[in-house]
Formats: sequence, C-alpha cells, structure tokens
Amino acid sequence: MFNVKTYKSRRDKLKKSLKKGLALFPGNEECPMNYPANTYHFRQDSNFLYYFGLDEPSLMALIDIENDREMIFGNDVTMEDIIWMGPQPSLRDKAGQVGINDVRPGSQLIEMVSSAVKQGRKAHILPPYRGRQSLILSSLLVCPPELVKSFISEDFIKAVIAQRSIKTKEEIEQIEEAHKITAVMQITAMKKAAAGMIEADLAGELEGIALKGSAGVSFPIILSVHGEILHNHSHDNIMKNGDLLVLDCGAESRLHYAADITRTFPVSGKFSAKQKTIYNIVLNAQLAAINAMKPGVNYKDIHLLAAKEITEGLKVAGLLKGNTDDIVNNGTHALFFPHGLGHMMGLDVHDMEGLGEDYIGYNDKVKRSDQFGLAYLRMGKALAPGMVITVEPGIYFIPALIHKWRTENRFMDFINYDKLEDYMDFGGIRIEDDVLVTESGHRVIGGKIPKTIAEVEKTCQEK
Ligand code: GLY
Ligand code: MN
Repeated sequence: MFNVKTYKSRRDKLKKSLKKGLALFPGNEECPMNYPANTYHFRQDSNFLYYFGLDEPSLMALIDIENDREMIFGNDVTMEDIIWMGPQPSLRDKAGQVGINDVRPGSQLIEMVSSAVKQGRKAHILPPYRGRQSLILSSLLVCPPELVKSFISEDFIKAVIAQRSIKTKEEIEQIEEAHKITAVMQITAMKKAAAGMIEADLAGELEGIALKGSAGVSFPIILSVHGEILHNHSHDNIMKNGDLLVLDCGAESRLHYAADITRTFPVSGKFSAKQKTIYNIVLNAQLAAINAMKPGVNYKDIHLLAAKEITEGLKVAGLLKGNTDDIVNNGTHALFFPHGLGHMMGLDVHDMEGLGEDYIGYNDKVKRSDQFGLAYLRMGKALAPGMVITVEPGIYFIPALIHKWRTENRFMDFINYDKLEDYMDFGGIRIEDDVLVTESGHRVIGGKIPKTIAEVEKTCQEK
C-alpha cells in the first residue's frame, strides 16, 4: 500500500469538500460463484482502496466530518480463520498502516449510522453497484433497498471524482507498473499468434502473465479475429493466415491501478495491402489525437479530430465520399468508428464509471451528444494535468450494421456501399494507448509496445 500520509491526505481533502455529514464506504464482500464458500477472485471496491487502502473483504469505513472521526468496522480473525487461512495481523494493526486508530466490530456501525440519521444528520453514500452493498446500506440506513438510492450524494460523487481524476506521481508509477506487464502480454501475443491456434490458447497464456506479474487482469481479455465485435469476450475461433487479431488487454498493478492497451496484428506476421491501408488510417487518427492532447482542450474535440482523420483516410480508400465536415457532423463516419475515442483510467479501467458516466466525462460546458457513435464517448470535457485517458480509435466493418444502413438508404451520398461489399470479412482494427495529460501537453504511458506496421510485423515474425 502507499505511505500512510497518502491515505490521510486523501481523507482530509474529502472532509474539506464535503464539510458535514457522515461519509459511508462499504468495502466489498467475497462474492460466491456457485456456493457460499467457492468465491470469485476478490476485488476490493476502488473508493475503499483510494481512501482506506485495505485490500480485504467485509470491511466498512465511516468518516464523521463534524466530529473529525475516521473509523474502520470489521471483525478480527478468529482461531477458526487462522486454522483455514493462516496467521493474520490484527485489524487494528492493518488499519494503523492507513492512519486509522478507531477500529470497531462491524455490529457497532448500524447503531452509529442509524442514530445519526434519526438525529437528522446527512449520510452520504456513493451509488452501490452490487446487490449485497444495497442490502448492507439498506440495513445501515434503516430503509428498504429500493430507497437506498435516495441517500446517494451528488456532493460526495463530485468530491471523489475531483480527487481521483488527478493522478499523483505515486499513482502514475502504479499505472506504469501495470503497463510493464501489459507490454509483455501484448508482445508475447504478437510472437505466439499462429494459424491453427485457438484464441483461448493465447488468451489463457496472457492471463497467466498478468497473474504472475501483477494482481491479474484489469478487465476480461478481448482477443479475437472478429475484431469488428467491439468487446468480444469469447475465445473460440481458430486463427487463420490472413486474419487480423485484435488484442485489448491490461494488467492491474499490485495496488490495483489499471492499464488498457489495444494492438491489432496479422496472424501470419504480414499485413496485406488492404489491411495496411486501413491500419495506417487508424494509426494516423490515433497519433493526431494524442498529439492534440493538452490541458484545456475538450476531449470531445479530440474525438472529432480522430473522426475527421478516419474520414479523410476512408475517402482516400474510396469507402467514403463528400465533404469531411459534413460526414463528421452528420455522423456518417460512425458506421466505421461507432464508439468513443477513450475514457479515464486509474483504479478502475473505466475510471470511476460506477459513480455515473456523465459526472466523469461531462459538465455544464460540455454535454453528451445523442448522435449514434458520439453518444458512446465517455469523456468529453476539458483535459487537466494529471488525468490519464485512453486514446483508442478504430475502424470496423460490421456486416449487420452496413447492411441495415444500406437497406435504409442511409447517407447514400457519402458511403460507397458497393465497394464496402469487398470488406465484409475484414474484421476490425483498434489501436489504444494510455496518455497522461501533463502541464505542457501529454506523455504516452509505457509506450514501448510495437505500433507501426514495420514494428508490428518485425515482432510478429520473431516467433
Ligand atoms: N478496454 C476495454 C474498454 O475500454 O472498454
Ligand atoms: Mn479502453
């Protein structure tokens, strides 16, 4: 975990922003797969990790702002636990490492919160995202589970987002640690992918790399020769020469900071001429977008810049025609680029998304569009130093979507549908890096993973 000062100063800042009330932090519980004692891999709640650092189940924390008290609630290990899990430090010792001296049994929390609420004090909660959290909050707040959401505090959400959006040096180091492992995952995949292999053979090996070197993957690995399926989590296809493999993966550092990197490479080790053309359009769009990143620029404008680069490239390839601004303004390009350019990243791979996408990526100045494609952009607002954002443009040939639009005669003046028939088995290409916004511009984090056609082919051929 980080130094105790980190956790204390994070909580001090939160107390200053919230000013009054009780801030409640339900840590995560173990989550059963098929019977209570057989659980999924435990992942602590990211807000709990951010303010209290303790990476274990069944803890709750409370900050009582007016009385300046910070407490952790949980039950100490019993002899029974020691028999099954080995000796453990006491909860008091662990809490001391994050600057908390007030440690109490879980049973005391309900009395403390319910009497404060009865006295009319404000209890701040963040949006729960697991059923079990809602049930715990419902008993603490003495209300039915369906009314728990009335305690969700916009002030709390905004205060947490303001803090977690700006990464400190020690957080960047964690993200860099996650990148080191992720680079090994990407480079291993480039070297090992081969015709005849099942995607699962490679996906399993990459997950093993993440587990060996870090806390595991930051999200389920996307590895597919059907890259046109944006988040394809099945790994059943057999790789063939001529296929492009999209690999979107990331490791999580020991303290649970994410990496999120996508590369697309040829199974055979050599791109075809047609694949090279589309690849370079995506790469140019990604480089132009990264280049434009600096404090004060709206990320929505950078998304639109990438959309323009993609449009220009597809016009040269003969798949789009007409005026570039018209195409981007009316959303024609989203046939090929139907998702957002990127999202914040940190303790969550889509950082803080559980607090509400629009709180993270939008504000009074920049509103979310409802246009197809642009509506999926998670981050639109102005960049600020310390933010870490993914930059992940793509071009996809989605047969069902192309045929639907053609049948509906959509954007007939802008799309060369006849030529598109040659691309129905092309798949998709996405290229993604994670970028830190600095005072003077930006820095690509990690940055040593092959990306140009020459670099990718060279690595793929080092079998
Ligand atoms: N890496 C998956 C995503 O960004 O949604
Ligand atoms: Mn991403």
